[in-house]
Amino acid sequence: MKLAIFNGSPRGINSNTKTLLDFFQKGFENAGGEIELVEYLIKEKQLEEQVQHFEKSKNILLAFPLYVDSVPGVVKQFIETIGDFNGSDVNISFIVHSGFPEGIHSDGLVRYLELLTKRWKMNYMGTLLKPGSEQVRMQPKKKNTKLFQDFENLGKNFALTGTFDEDILTRLKQPYVFPTRAIPVIRLMSKLGLIDLMWNREFKKNKAYKNRFDKPLLRE
Ligand SMILES: Cc1cc2nc3c(=O)[nH]c(=O)nc-3n(C[C@H](O)[C@H](O)[C@H](O)COP(=O)(O)O)c2cc1C
Repeated sequence: MKLAIFNGSPRGINSNTKTLLDFFQKGFENAGGEIELVEYLIKEKQLEEQVQHFEKSKNILLAFPLYVDSVPGVVKQFIETIGDFNGSDVNISFIVHSGFPEGIHSDGLVRYLELLTKRWKMNYMGTLLKPGSEQVRMQPKKKNTKLFQDFENLGKNFALTGTFDEDILTRLKQPYVFPTRAIPVIRLMSKLGLIDLMWNREFKKNKAYKNRFDKPLLRE
């Protein structure tokens, strides 16, 4: 089976998306699959060529992080440039991963992707959800061993069946919602500022800490 991969992360080759896809690709190729091409949608100058590749491929995997509860801008641009498309003999699958830790966060987007696939008349082969994906770059490799193994096994299964392994799919989207008993702990962490640690570090790194409560789109 040949597969065309489209990486929709604005971080391109430095993305969590790429790291996860590399493991997927390893399993896929070891099981006899062939990666036809890997396109990085952040390379906007290649947009026309990327759209042509999309239109010619028979098995497509589009992977990207959740951005503002939706798709990153480069993915939106890609989808809109494709526009009307008749892909009745083409299979498409998606990988959506998010910074927030609950799988339910990406649910609305999954429904949109199903609708998009219908509009493009393509065969929908499923969407893999992975919440809490910023851990890929933040944690040492060793801590992600299980996750990387899952992606390798997903790739292997995909080469053999053309779709995602249901067991891994179900496991990876956990926690789908936090159990009720976890909520007091989360509230406490929030009060202590522990949940904001990473964001505050980024604000400081970008000299924007004092602007962290700005609401630039709010009407006066
Ligand atoms: C501008 C921006 C918006 C984001 N919006 C969301 C969001 O709405 N929900 C979420 O769970 N994560 C959000 N994230 C977090 C990313 O989905 C997460 O960090 C992901 O692992 C990035 O993957 P990448 O390295 O492949 O780009 C956002 C990140 C950025 C930079």
